[in-house]
Amino acid sequence: MSLTTGMEILSAARAGGYGVGAFNTSNLEITQAIVRAAEATRSPVLIALSEGGLEYGGKPLVDLVLGMARDATVPICLHLDHGSSFERCLQAIRLGFTSVMIDKSHADEATNVIETKRVVDAAHAAGVSVEAEIGRLGGVEEHVVVAEEDAILTKPDEAERFMEATGADYLAVAIGTSHGANKGVGRPFIDHARIEAIAARVSKPLVMHGASGVPSALVERLNAAGGSLAGASGIHEDDVRRAVSRGIAKINTDTDLRLAFATVVRETLARGPGGFDPRKILGPARDEMQAVVEERMRVFGCAGKA
Ligand code: 13P
Repeated sequence: MSLTTGMEILSAARAGGYGVGAFNTSNLEITQAIVRAAEATRSPVLIALSEGGLEYGGKPLVDLVLGMARDATVPICLHLDHGSSFERCLQAIRLGFTSVMIDKSHADEATNVIETKRVVDAAHAAGVSVEAEIGRLGGVEEHVVVAEEDAILTKPDEAERFMEATGADYLAVAIGTSHGANKGVGRPFIDHARIEAIAARVSKPLVMHGASGVPSALVERLNAAGGSLAGASGIHEDDVRRAVSRGIAKINTDTDLRLAFATVVRETLARGPGGFDPRKILGPARDEMQAVVEERMRVFGCAGKA
């Protein structure tokens, strides 16, 4: 149990036909929400830090996640989301991450293969799992914005070639989703036939980025509490279930937690303008995020698998 590699968690998921969530964190409360939800639902889970999250929280945040993972009663993986270079992945491996993503999906295929293979060799020598990406998602990815028209859906033959050439453990595929709260500019879709075709050629776990549901109830609450989020749309849970049944094993969610956090902090401050105890401001947000994560875990099918 406790701190586990990504491949241990995800190979069981692909074989068992269920999905596991990778939830991004950048502070104590988000991490507690994820770990508490995993323990409450008996789910394996990946806790993801992006490079931005790593810059924000530094080694103390990494050590916090590692400590909570080691003490947990369910399998937990610490994962680097969208590592941009060999050096960044190596830094994460040295800090104790049990999974790293090398994302060279913006480069040409030959460069992507060379750079990914380099990370795979180093990570595997350290017992760390590797996620790679081929194809290109639209939306906001850390500091990079990819316009919807510049997104490139993953080709099944390319995916097969790429996985054989690199030896990566799991593959992020571009199948129509995009990062952020405005997916598909009001018309989010998932290319289910494409997932099926990729899964027929790649037996390793497949990864869906940009999977947040962006629940309209939360968006309405956020806006009612003084937020301003227009044109928000996410991925329907039925689409997520279908994608899982076709081979998606890792499902990334960041936006839904951010929405829950910002909504409840706004509501809490508005309700008690005199309050200034951080625990009373952040505690309710933590509880709402936990509820969001638990619901996602039930949709993914990983509840009860730990
Ligand atoms: P969302 O923006 O849909 O939550 O996706 C997050 C993600 O894919 C992180 O890698």
